[in-house]
Amino acid sequence: MTRLTRFVRTTAFKLSLLYIAVFTVMSGVLVVYVSESTDNLMSEQVVQAVDSELKGLSDVYVRGGIRDLVETIDDRTQHPDASLYLLVDFAGNALVGNIARLPTVVLEEADGGLRRVRYTLLGQGTEDVERQAMVRTFELRGGFRLLVGRDLGDQLRFSNLLANALRLWLVVVVVMAAITWLFVSRRVMKRIDDISASSRMIMDGDLTERLSLAGTNDEFDRLAVNLNDMLDRIELLMQSMKDVTDNIAHDLKTPLTRLQTRVETALRDAKGEDGYRSALESTLHETDHLLRIFNALLRIARIESMAPGSVMEPADMNRLVAEIAELYEPLIEDEGGRLETDAPDNLEAVCNRDLISQVLVNLIENALKYGRPADGALVLRLTGEEKQGRVMLSVSDNGPGIPEKDHERVMDRFVRLEESRSEPGTGLGLSLVKAVARLHGGDLRFKNEDPGLCARIDLTPVSHDSVRSGDGEERSGRTEQPNGN
Ligand SMILES: Nc1ncnc2c1ncn2[C@@H]1O[C@H](COP(=O)(O)OP(=O)(O)OP(=O)(O)O)[C@@H](O)[C@H]1O
Ligand SMILES: [Mg+2]
Repeated sequence: MTRLTRFVRTTAFKLSLLYIAVFTVMSGVLVVYVSESTDNLMSEQVVQAVDSELKGLSDVYVRGGIRDLVETIDDRTQHPDASLYLLVDFAGNALVGNIARLPTVVLEEADGGLRRVRYTLLGQGTEDVERQAMVRTFELRGGFRLLVGRDLGDQLRFSNLLANALRLWLVVVVVMAAITWLFVSRRVMKRIDDISASSRMIMDGDLTERLSLAGTNDEFDRLAVNLNDMLDRIELLMQSMKDVTDNIAHDLKTPLTRLQTRVETALRDAKGEDGYRSALESTLHETDHLLRIFNALLRIARIESMAPGSVMEPADMNRLVAEIAELYEPLIEDEGGRLETDAPDNLEAVCNRDLISQVLVNLIENALKYGRPADGALVLRLTGEEKQGRVMLSVSDNGPGIPEKDHERVMDRFVRLEESRSEPGTGLGLSLVKAVARLHGGDLRFKNEDPGLCARIDLTPVSHDSVRSGDGEERSGRTEQPNGN
């Protein structure tokens, strides 16, 4: 019973009912229209036949008088067809014709008007069968009355046939519509039930479960794809939140423990004002480091939870590269190094300018810290180019590089290679670069360039026609994520 009420309440069922109702009314209108017009058409033909017959007979009468008329009618009644004749004298006695019986009023009112009458045919034992006909009756000179008509048997049979066929058709249509729609609505309901069941499973169980697709690319598949994308995103956010919590739990514990030990040692062992001062200074140094870690972690988490494209607009990469170079050139030269830049004019990308600047700063600082060659000066190259439909920004140095096996690992949070421990750092710089690259629909990649390391990110270029027209379509186009990260 509940299943039935649930079924009756579905949109599909209501739509089916509406569809059947509309179809039935339309078919009904069609049936009435067709039968009315055939009836009219056939009546017209009858009237024409009667009129031409009358005209012929009246010609005969005018030319040859009553004798010729009787002869002609007698002659015509010999060949059986749908034509009807009756000629009576002033007393009402039939002189000639093929009608046995008909209402007397028809002959009395001989005004030439068209009438539909019931009659019986003369001869061959057909007198008992009542038939229908269209007739006209005229009064002739000398009190004679002439009736000419046409039997409607064929017309009535045809009308009946048509009406029956149309009625049958209507029934078939309604039944077929009902079956089709029941089938469709059951299917639709099944798909919706499937999606409901899967989503309940996902809610109850693990978030890695996904809705299944029928592979027909219909609206339900599209809905499932969107829901799956949403689940992907939720899973990613949950994962990144879990990562941050794990990081805080594990990686912040060490510096905090170190801080605690230092304070305890100072309280126990420090002598005099100088001793406390130096203990406080190292504590400050440690807290500074901790704050930097916190800020970096929060920043990465925030970037990872941003909706792609929500904070982006077209920006001139050539200008960006020039600005960053201007900022860092003195520093690099102070260290005895050299900075080279190379970015074509009109190199535009859809990006968040602040985040991309931060990316370049992080990569340049890494090159400054770890990219110096053992012998000789640092040569740092900042390049922008458009390649394979993407805008590539790269920072390369001529230092020792990162071993191939560590390329993926260094992007993880808090990973610092053994040889870099002497330099200050949190191990979060590349994690932020990767998060920003992913936000822009790209990725961070390393390449060892004997000597040195080349770090590269890719961004979506601006399509020029669309920017100028400034329509809404272009905006949605901008936020596309070709890599689907
Ligand atoms: N240009 C480079 N050449 C060689 N090794 C590098 C280079 N850039 C990064 N690395 C290695 O990758 C590690 C991770 O870099 P990342 O930028 O994430 O952290 P960090 O520089 O140590 O700290 P932070 O950037 O937070 O100050 C570095 O510790 C270093 O070992
Ligand atoms: Mg760094």
